[in-house]
Amino acid sequence: MANELKILIVDDDDVDRMAVRRALEKSGLEVEITEADGAATALEALRHGNFDCALLDYLLPDGDGLSLLRDTRAANISTPVVMLTGQRDERLIVELLRAGAADYLSKNELSGETLCHAVQTATRLHSAEQEKLRAHDKLKQAHRELQASHQQLLQSEKLASIGQLAAGVAHEINNPVGYVYSNLGTLQKYIDNLFQMLEGYARLETLVSDKETLQAVQTLKQELDLEYLKEDVRDLVSESREGISRVKGIVQDLKDFSHVDEAEWQWADLAHGLDSTLNIVNNEIKYKAEVVKKYGDLPEVECLASQINQVFMNLLVNAAHAIEERGTITVRTGTEGDGAWVEVSDTGKGMDAEIQKKIFDPFFTTKPVGTGTGLGLSLSYSIVQKHHGKISVDSEPGRGSTFRVWLPLRQPKQKAAS
Ligand SMILES: Nc1ncnc2c1ncn2[C@@H]1O[C@H](COP(=O)(O)OP(=O)(O)O)[C@@H](O)[C@H]1O
Ligand SMILES: [Mg+2]
Repeated sequence: MANELKILIVDDDDVDRMAVRRALEKSGLEVEITEADGAATALEALRHGNFDCALLDYLLPDGDGLSLLRDTRAANISTPVVMLTGQRDERLIVELLRAGAADYLSKNELSGETLCHAVQTATRLHSAEQEKLRAHDKLKQAHRELQASHQQLLQSEKLASIGQLAAGVAHEINNPVGYVYSNLGTLQKYIDNLFQMLEGYARLETLVSDKETLQAVQTLKQELDLEYLKEDVRDLVSESREGISRVKGIVQDLKDFSHVDEAEWQWADLAHGLDSTLNIVNNEIKYKAEVVKKYGDLPEVECLASQINQVFMNLLVNAAHAIEERGTITVRTGTEGDGAWVEVSDTGKGMDAEIQKKIFDPFFTTKPVGTGTGLGLSLSYSIVQKHHGKISVDSEPGRGSTFRVWLPLRQPKQKAAS
């Protein structure tokens, strides 16, 4: 029967046990009764029996009710216990209630009615308590989830604003860098012209009859070290042009990486995204690892490029962090099925199975406070999921780790809102 109460009667005295059983059966409660005749058997029964209520004689041959009660609580058994005592002893009663007894009854006043009342109250209180605990757990879980999504939101907000800042700065720098670059080109030409002119004048030197003037010009030439100056000025200009070209490249990478103008689904070249991301995180990586690229031929992939770059960035930075002294980071790409994959492998410290289970959890980090947020991989996971892709890891302590991201080339018709 569904509403039947499972009850354990614990008493070493057969007659007493029978009396309790009879009284219960007559009380009108639907009960299924199990009996035990000592503390040890009772504890064993409680461990496995899933009882709604236990009626415990206080005096047992192998221990008293109080220690049995404490043992059950220590064993995490929450079955409500109604203690049956010999005579009324106020101090004992207080102690029993403190130890977690739901109620107590004096054996002299046992009747169907008192038992029924005690059992019903105890079970009701118990299930209310359980319900409260469950609700509390759910609340705690909800709170954790809320906190996690709040952090993710903050993180993605932060990334978005960094991206915007980067793109803004890149845009501002673009213009001056552009004209410095082009002016340097012109300057180079002018300098060549000036030198030509200078050579023209040098040819006139033979015609100068005024020795003093000639002497002065030659001294000046030596003092200024004209020969060296001619060579060096060309080098300076071409080095400057090279420097400015590099700045142009960085600006372009920043723009590519942040994709601020294109927070839309688009067809993107993953290798290009990897390259610009590698340039951005170069500083974090270059002292730790040599980067080896093994790109296969990839068609364009329909994605939110800035977010996918974000994933690449997390994987690359993690790979660099995993390498203690010096190592190699290998970036591979290829196609599989109707999708493209990217792998980031490192020769770093690797992870055991326990850690691997948790790495995609928000806030899970093994890095010291201030270094790790524990959000990189959980964010990457949700980005890849949004793309209907997969992210997986293969790792072993001491050998290194390989993270693999697989993305479908084309998104299903019903795209997740970005
Ligand atoms: N390539 C890797 N090698 C070893 N452990 C890694 C690697 N990538 C991630 N992990 C582990 O996963 C954890 C979570 O990574 P992540 O979510 O990026 O957070 P964070 O980098 O802030 O710690 C790291 O703290 C680290 O323990
Ligand atoms: Mg990280």
